Amino acid sequence: MRFDGQTILITGASSGIGLGYAQEFAMRGANLVLVARSSDRLGNLASQLHAQYGITVEPISTDLSVPGAPAVLLERIGQAGHLLDGVVNNAGFGDHGDVGSADPHRLSSMVTLNCTALVELTRATLPRMIANRRGVVVNVASTAAFQPIPTMAVYAATKAFVLSFTEALWHEVRGTGVRVLAISPGGTDTAFFTAANATGTRMTANPMRSVEQVVATTFRGLEQGRPSIIDGGLNTILATASRFSPTRLAMMISRAVVAKT
Ligand SMILES: NC(=O)c1ccc[n+]([C@@H]2O[C@H](COP(=O)([O-])OP(=O)(O)OC[C@H]3O[C@@H](n4cnc5c(N)ncnc54)[C@H](OP(=O)(O)O)[C@@H]3O)[C@@H](O)[C@H]2O)c1
Repeated sequence: MRFDGQTILITGASSGIGLGYAQEFAMRGANLVLVARSSDRLGNLASQLHAQYGITVEPISTDLSVPGAPAVLLERIGQAGHLLDGVVNNAGFGDHGDVGSADPHRLSSMVTLNCTALVELTRATLPRMIANRRGVVVNVASTAAFQPIPTMAVYAATKAFVLSFTEALWHEVRGTGVRVLAISPGGTDTAFFTAANATGTRMTANPMRSVEQVVATTFRGLEQGRPSIIDGGLNTILATASRFSPTRLAMMISRAVVAKT
C-alpha cells in the first residue's frame, strides 16, 4: 500500500507508536503533517524524514487536550496549503489510580484528547476523502477497550469509545473507497506507562510488543479492509476472552493486571 502524493495527518507523532506510524507512512511515500506538544522532537523528526524520503513534512506543535484545539489545528493545516488524504488519531494517554482521588482536570483532558479530538479530526477530514473515493482513518484504541478496568476506569472507557465509534464509522463508509480501522495494541514498549503513572505494574513486567509490530498489524488490518484489529495473537485471545467473560470476572482480572507489584 503506497501513499505517494497523499498527505496524512498523524497525531502523537513525537514518540512511541505515532513515531512508528510517521516512519512507516514516510517510507510508503506519504507527505506528513505531524502533531504533538513537543516541538523540538517533531522538528527533528520532520527534518530526518524529509532528508531520508524527500517528502514534505509539516510539524505542528499543538495540545489536543485543549477544547477547540483540533479546529485551530485544521485551520493552520489549511493555511499552510495541505489537503488531507488521511488521519491517524494516535495521540492519547492514560492515568493509573482511582477516579475518586484523580486530578479532575487530567481526567477531562484525557476524554478530550482520546475521544473528542479524535472525533473532531475524523469528522473534519472525512468529506474530502469520501469525495475523492480514497483515504485512510486509523484510530488507535487498545485492548483496554474490551473490558472495564478498575484503577484505569476513564482510560478504558475512552478506548471502548474509540473502538465502538471507529467500527460504526467503518460500516458507514463501506463502498466509498475510504479505509477506516481501529487498531488495539496491548502492552507496547513506549513511554505510555510512565505518562500514565503505571510503571511497576504487573502488565509492565510482562514482555511488551514492539512499536514495529503494532505498525505492521495496522497495515495488515488496512490492507484486509477490516473494521478493527488487535495487535498480537495472545492479546487477541485475551481481549476476545475478556469480552465474552462475566463482567465481574473480567474486571477482577483486568484490575489485577494493572495492579502495582
Ligand atoms: N503503549 C501501550 O502499551 C499502548 C497500548 C494500547 C494503546 N496505546 C495507545 O497508543 C497511543 C500512542 O501511545 P504510545 O504508547 O505511543 O505512548 P507515548 O509514547 O506516550 O506517545 C503518546 C503520544 O501522544 C502525544 N500526546 C500526548 N498528549 C498530547 C496532547 N495533549 N496533545 C497532543 N499530543 C499529545 C505525545 O507527544 P507529546 O508528549 O509531545 O505531546 C506522544 O507523541 C495512545 O493513544 C495510547 O493510548 C498504547
